Amino acid sequence: NVQNKLEEILHCLRLSGEDVIRVGDVFGEEMNRGMRDQPSSLLMENTYLPEISCSEDGEYLGLDLGGTNFRVLLVKLKDGEVVEEKFLTYDVDTETRQGEGSKLFDFLADCVSDFAHKEGVADKGLCMGFTFSFPMHQKSLHNGFLSQWTKSFSASNVVNNDVVVMLQEALERRGDVNVHVNAILNDTTGTLLQGCAMDRRTRVGLILGTGSNAAYLERADRVCHWESERHGEQEIVIDIEWGAFGDNGVIDFIKSHFDRQLDNGSLHINSFSFEKYISGLYLGELVRIVLLHLANNRLLFNGILSKEIQVKDSFLSSYVSRVEKDNVDTQSHETETLLRKFNLDFCDDDVAVIKYVCELISLRASLLVSACCARLLKQMDKPDVTIAVDGSVFKFHPRYRLWMEKFIRLLAPSHKFQLLLAEDGSGKGAGIASAIANRLEKSYH
Ligand code: BG6
Ligand code: GLC
Repeated sequence: NVQNKLEEILHCLRLSGEDVIRVGDVFGEEMNRGMRDQPSSLLMENTYLPEISCSEDGEYLGLDLGGTNFRVLLVKLKDGEVVEEKFLTYDVDTETRQGEGSKLFDFLADCVSDFAHKEGVADKGLCMGFTFSFPMHQKSLHNGFLSQWTKSFSASNVVNNDVVVMLQEALERRGDVNVHVNAILNDTTGTLLQGCAMDRRTRVGLILGTGSNAAYLERADRVCHWESERHGEQEIVIDIEWGAFGDNGVIDFIKSHFDRQLDNGSLHINSFSFEKYISGLYLGELVRIVLLHLANNRLLFNGILSKEIQVKDSFLSSYVSRVEKDNVDTQSHETETLLRKFNLDFCDDDVAVIKYVCELISLRASLLVSACCARLLKQMDKPDVTIAVDGSVFKFHPRYRLWMEKFIRLLAPSHKFQLLLAEDGSGKGAGIASAIANRLEKSYH
């Protein structure tokens, strides 16, 4: 019957308890290998951030590239606290994201100049922190060599280059703005910094947004790669780049044919596989792929598809959150509204099936993220840990957070933790990192 057929098709999206535990174990092994510079799908990058708080005053610029919004910011610190923040958001079009790299950096410099002039700080010689939400290899706090593009960026001639130098050079090419880019950080590091400012127990910065990744505090003696002077650090911030987890095949046991189809249609095929199970750029498309498959098997919409639903990426992850709202609130009817928007003819059973698909895919995502978070808690083995989280999926999905709290507790029962929404790590974090870098520069000269 219909129910059985549906279950049979969707079964591959269900994870068993064993699968989840195995994902966590493999994640732990990959982390340890990455830290020892052994082959691993996890980069485990040293961020060279020597501390996680500062006590400075002053004005700093920030640049935030890689999330939903590209922003230039002006951050005022007082005793290390962000007391004022102004920013402007700019649109980075596809041509700029995926064209020639120097054009991308010229565009970034144009925006910095525009903002700095509007704020009247173009001649002040301010320091700037660059939140660059992509995998990079750092040799110090003020350089970052792009390892590979992820998400919707693919600009040419940037991979393996120092993006701080590229940005600084673009600013100098313009010549009308005096800014010194002195720190670069990932958005997860920014979220960790912002989390620490809110709650001293914070040891993890997690992003569940367009992409997904985490940074955490690791014992310095466990980490092999150091390429610049050490400052007696006991602990360092490691950017895991967990989006790439499994790119070497180690978690292929959870991969379904739907995941392969999603991957084949993505900008970076065979790359950042873990991110494709869990983050905002992909969850909606995955749901759409499953819905088309069900319709083609006459298990949805009587087998009839509108042209709107056949457009790639037309089912946004925010729609998954809206359907999920119907799953938790009986008064909510978002699914019907969405299906009308897609010009689909539907019956009550169709609505139920779509709600079920969104639940399955969201549940799997939250289980996978939880497996990694639980493993991180075990790795750090501290009595009480706050995980600072930011990003659109975490903020807007109605029960991702609740599921995570439940699953992490089940997977790491003896580790006390709490999830904390720590917003705008990229803005505030850029300011704080720039202030820390500024002080270090002064103390060495
Ligand atoms: C923002 C953070 O709120 O979330 C950024 O300040 C981060 O640091 C972003 O990059 C990620 O979420 P999204 O949903 O914009 O990709
Ligand atoms: C991608 C990037 C990573 C970033 C994450 C969240 O996974 O590679 O650096 O932290 O997205 O924005």
